[in-house]
Amino acid sequence: MQRFAGPIDAALADRLAQLHSTIFAPLGERSWTAEEFLQSAALASRHIWVAGRSDAPTGLAVTQMVAPEAELLTIGVSPHARRQRLATQLLHSLSSDLAAMGVQSLMFEVRADNPPAVQFYRAAGAVQTTTRPNYYRLADGRRVDALQFCIALGQK
Ligand SMILES: CC(C)(COP(=O)(O)OP(=O)(O)OC[C@H]1O[C@@H](n2cnc3c(N)ncnc32)[C@H](O)[C@@H]1OP(=O)(O)O)[C@@H](O)C(=O)NCCC(=O)NCCS
Repeated sequence: MQRFAGPIDAALADRLAQLHSTIFAPLGERSWTAEEFLQSAALASRHIWVAGRSDAPTGLAVTQMVAPEAELLTIGVSPHARRQRLATQLLHSLSSDLAAMGVQSLMFEVRADNPPAVQFYRAAGAVQTTTRPNYYRLADGRRVDALQFCIALGQK
C-alpha cells in the first residue's frame, strides 16, 4: 500500500485513471480522468492510496480532508483482484494514516443499489448515518438513494 501526498507523475495518473475506469464504468459511474488524479495529488487536502505496484495498481482510494473529518471520495479494486481483502487493507491504511494526522472520523457515501460496497462498508464497521432519498439520477432516468456512512477513527 502506498500513499501519495504530493505531485504524482503523468504515467501514474494515466494508470490510475485506467484502473478507475475498469472499476467504475461497469457500474455506470463516471470515471476520474488522469487530469483529475494529477490535480488531486497536487492538493494538500487530498491523499491517494494505491494497492499493488505503482506500475500495475490493483486498487485505489482518494480522501479529502475537511478537518476534523475526512471524506472518502472514491475506493475500488480491480475486478480480478476482489475478495482478497485489498479494499480492507486500503481502508485500514488510510484510516490509521488519517487518525495519525488528527482526523476524527471518515465519511463516505454509496449508492443503495451497490450491495457489494454496502456489505464491504458494514463489514468494515462503518455506521450508516443518513439516507438521501433519490439522490442519484442514473443515465436511464431512475433515481437511487444515497447511503451515508461514518467510521470513527482512533477507535480501531
Ligand atoms: C466494494 C469493493 C471496494 C470491495 O473490494 P474488495 O477488495 O473485494 O473487498 P475485501 O476483499 O476487502 O472484502 C472485505 C469484506 O467486505 C464484504 N464484501 C466485499 N465484497 C463483497 C461482495 N461482492 N458481496 C458481499 N460482501 C462483500 C465481505 O464481508 C468481505 O469479507 P469476506 O471476503 O471475508 O466475506 C469492490 O467490490 C469494488 O471495487 N467495487 C466497485 C467499486 C465500488 O463499488 N466502490 C465503493 C463505492 S464508491
